[in-house]
Amino acid sequence: MDQTAIIERTVEFVRDSLSGEATGHDWWHVDRVRALACRLGREEGADLLVVELAALLHDIADWKFHQGDLEAGPRAAAAWLESCQVEAGVVAQVCEIIGSVSFKGAQVATPMATLEGQVVQDADRLDALGAVGIARAFAYGGHRQREIHSPDVAPESHDSFAAYRDSNSTTINHFHEKLLLLADRMNTSAARRLAHGRDSYMRSFLKRFHSEWEGES
Ligand code: ADP
Ligand code: NI
Repeated sequence: MDQTAIIERTVEFVRDSLSGEATGHDWWHVDRVRALACRLGREEGADLLVVELAALLHDIADWKFHQGDLEAGPRAAAAWLESCQVEAGVVAQVCEIIGSVSFKGAQVATPMATLEGQVVQDADRLDALGAVGIARAFAYGGHRQREIHSPDVAPESHDSFAAYRDSNSTTINHFHEKLLLLADRMNTSAARRLAHGRDSYMRSFLKRFHSEWEGES
């Protein structure tokens, strides 16, 4: 199968698997991440086949929906890519990226060994920021039956993946526990620029949220 056919079949597979998903991990999230990752990848001179396949498959079996199992994603991606007879070297690179892409807690390092992984991680993180990021955070929080906000629950800075995974905090706290930390953790300078605008937008949203909460506006 040539590269175009592999991508086309993978798009169909992911679209069929994730369409209609209601927690922000739907096909349109993947489509935005794929477009951003390819754009960053072109700018940075990355291997675009690896970038596009990793972006397309990065949420095919996310640990958040598989009892915290970090290997579920790479396993599902490998099974799919092998069924498309993708060469072993590419499968290994894509699976390595999918296994490392996720945020795992404020104090947990999530290093990306390759340029291809770095642009996919940046694109996935950019889609957690800004107006789209705000929408996704509340969609996911509602799905997990998290409160929107509670002044009685302080944000935490998680020092292990288990603590982050098992936390049941509010969605407003999620901004402090993850989303507001991401702009400073981008791997590429192009992503850092985009992250900056999205980060400012979230900060003004939070300001307004708290001012309405207090009845000040
Ligand atoms: P990652 O793999 O880094 O978690 P994803 O593509 O899976 O990235 O998307 C994470 C999305 O899920 C973000 O938009 C984020 O806001 C949302 N999310 C994750 N954990 C929470 C949480 N505890 N509360 C609210 N939203 C969350
Ligand atoms: Ni994602």
